[in-house]
Amino acid sequence: DAGDLLRNALLQLSKSDGVRRTIETAPVSRQVVRRFVPGSTTEDAVAATAELRMTNRLATIDYLGEDTTDLTQAIRTRDAYVHLLRELKRADLSQMGMGEVSLKLSALGQALPGDGAKIALEHAREICEAAADAGTTVTLDMEDHTTTDATLEALRELRQDFPWVGAVIQSYLRRSEADCRDLAHEGSRVRLCKGAYKEPESVAFQSSEEVDTAYVRCLKVLMAGDGYPMVASHDPRLLEIAGALAAHHRRDPQTFEYQMLYGIRPEEQKRIADRGDQMRVYIPYGEEWYGYLMRRMAERPANTMFFLRGLASR
Ligand code: FDA
Repeated sequence: DAGDLLRNALLQLSKSDGVRRTIETAPVSRQVVRRFVPGSTTEDAVAATAELRMTNRLATIDYLGEDTTDLTQAIRTRDAYVHLLRELKRADLSQMGMGEVSLKLSALGQALPGDGAKIALEHAREICEAAADAGTTVTLDMEDHTTTDATLEALRELRQDFPWVGAVIQSYLRRSEADCRDLAHEGSRVRLCKGAYKEPESVAFQSSEEVDTAYVRCLKVLMAGDGYPMVASHDPRLLEIAGALAAHHRRDPQTFEYQMLYGIRPEEQKRIADRGDQMRVYIPYGEEWYGYLMRRMAERPANTMFFLRGLASR
């Protein structure tokens, strides 16, 4: 169908060096990319964090580099995070979790043959030590459904030493309401999102109505619980429901937060921060931005619309 055609075209483009060079050097598209990825260096990520702070927004920073099947690359990713955390601390942007980091275990070696899970966990642990030293936190991104159990297991292990490590739950997965119940305990930081991967019907709701109502069910569990919900969505209806549930449970604004992606609905981000709620922005940075944007769009045709809408929106 049309979705498959678009997906295949985007996946082809994501592999083409010629197209990559053209996109990287064309002034208009550079500007477009900058809207969603502030740059490729640590300095770019730190500068974006500093800029967000001027409007009272918090940050969570993702060093781009997924699906690592090479140990050298996994080590490079770990080192990039450790360096980033040191620089955030030096710039006084990490205290009290102002600038934290988001990690993908696949980028830290989870898919390496043999000891992948152990290697990724060890790398994550070293990043957590750097985060502890900087006075901030870490959130484990959630990837496709074949990795959910492994990621939740890594979360349990890391929380024994670093109880502030956060999890991500994707409302499109049928299992997620149960996972929310398990995670709605004191001190537990849980980011709730809809989910960005193309998943089979056996494990995931397919229609946006089902994904949205599942999101609300998960929100109810998290807001009623004792944990720290992180409401990651740009969807006005879901944001409104989250606010109503927080009020219903008499939650102090310091006991939950909203999260959005860098470059998406920036005016709404500022409005939420201005009214006294916590607003955290997810900043992806690094050399791998081209693959990041293309793959995000190829995984789900809806993601293409998502970024295109971001260009037109305020
Ligand atoms: P959706 O894309 O369904 O849009 C709903 C409505 O929101 C639209 O109808 C429109 O009104 C409004 N809207 C959306 N985009 C807009 C735009 N660009 N401009 C204006 N209005 C817009 N996924 C994952 O699988 N694992 C993860 O670890 C993470 N992590 C993560 C962190 C953070 C901080 C965020 C915000 C998101 C993620 N995601 C994620 C991605 C997430 O799963 C999802 O794909 C996107 O957030 C898009 O879903 P929305 O809830 O924003 O709504």
